[in-house]
Amino acid sequence: QGFTEITLFVQTGKDVLLEIMDPDAVKNYNLFVWRVKKTDNDPEPKFLVTFSPVDGPDVPENYTEIVFPQANFSVILKNLQKANSGLYDAQLSTSKQEILVAYNITVLDPVSPVKVKVDPVSSSPDSCNVTVSCTTDDYTISSTWTCTNQTCSNQGHNSEITPLGASLHIYLSDDSVTIICNHSNQVDWITASAHISPLCPTSPVEVHSHTNNSLIIVLITVAVLLIAITAGMFFLYRKKRRGKY
Ligand SMILES: *[C@@H]1O[C@H](CO)[C@@H](O)[C@H](O)[C@H]1NC(C)=O
Ligand SMILES: *[C@@H]1O[C@H](CO)[C@@H](O)[C@H](O)[C@H]1NC(C)=O
Ligand SMILES: *[C@@H]1O[C@H](CO)[C@@H](O)[C@H](O)[C@H]1NC(C)=O
Ligand SMILES: *[C@@H]1O[C@H](CO)[C@@H](O)[C@H](O)[C@H]1NC(C)=O
Ligand SMILES: *[C@@H]1O[C@H](CO)[C@@H](O)[C@H](O)[C@H]1NC(C)=O
Ligand SMILES: *[C@@H]1O[C@H](CO)[C@@H](O)[C@H](O)[C@H]1NC(C)=O
Ligand SMILES: *[C@@H]1O[C@H](CO)[C@@H](O)[C@H](O)[C@H]1NC(C)=O
Repeated sequence: QGFTEITLFVQTGKDVLLEIMDPDAVKNYNLFVWRVKKTDNDPEPKFLVTFSPVDGPDVPENYTEIVFPQANFSVILKNLQKANSGLYDAQLSTSKQEILVAYNITVLDPVSPVKVKVDPVSSSPDSCNVTVSCTTDDYTISSTWTCTNQTCSNQGHNSEITPLGASLHIYLSDDSVTIICNHSNQVDWITASAHISPLCPTSPVEVHSHTNNSLIIVLITVAVLLIAITAGMFFLYRKKRRGKY
């Protein structure tokens, strides 16, 4: 029909600017309106704002909280909620009627947090198999990975669409030492990650934390000994001084 349809995804609570690309096209008009159709089945589009050459922009009372007309025939929609999703268009009435632009707006909540969990399956001296699960509020995806102390490789399925239409993706980071769960939709994403080195029981990280514990024990022992020696010398010294008098 000769007009552009722009698809927009907007996060709940955010604002959006609907623009006429060429405001100069709006002249000698009888009426210029921004309309919304909530669904394809909506019989009649609702008027959000009407611009008339005489009266300027007029916003129906029930839209004054969201619809803010601009001088150049654009309109800002504020604090969008999911119920505001729909097909918006700008209709110009001169001697004929034409649509100048349409916006297909989908309002989405940000994604919920994701958790990563690693469960050992089997291991050999130089590699191990683990199951990595990524869990969100409404969905879990898991896949099996074979890891050495240096990298992991994946044996199957690692990306799915959740019931809420978001996507959940398990992958190895560029540095090859981290497995990442990424929960994303068109407006937001969030990740959780697990380091590879502790995944296999044979990994050097385990050894490291062991050393760390024994180091603390050694330090405590040394401290106790030092206190004991100091106290002993103190008593010896007092005994000596008493002996003098
Ligand atoms: C219309 O006005 C808004 C501010 O009110 C501005 O952000 C936008 O860029 C303008 N658009 C055009 C096409 O002039
Ligand atoms: C807002 O009011 C207009 C009439 O002024 C009506 O046609 C429209 O359906 C109303 N919209 C909503 C979302 O209630
Ligand atoms: C609007 O965009 C959504 C998401 O891409 C799509 O499912 C829907 O069919 C589109 N609606 C129209 C009227 O183009
Ligand atoms: C890991 O799984 C693969 C494929 O199932 C298998 O060939 C391999 O022997 C397993 N490795 C270990 C350490 O269990
Ligand atoms: C990984 O393990 C191999 C032996 O399986 C060892 O030679 C290598 O040094 C280890 N790499 C790291 C980074 O610990
Ligand atoms: C997560 O996925 C989104 C969507 O694919 C992408 O834009 C984003 O960069 C990813 N984040 C990371 C840390 O990889
Ligand atoms: C000892 O281990 C703890 C956690 O187990 C870690 O936070 C700390 O940095 C380690 N210290 C050293 C000196 O490695």
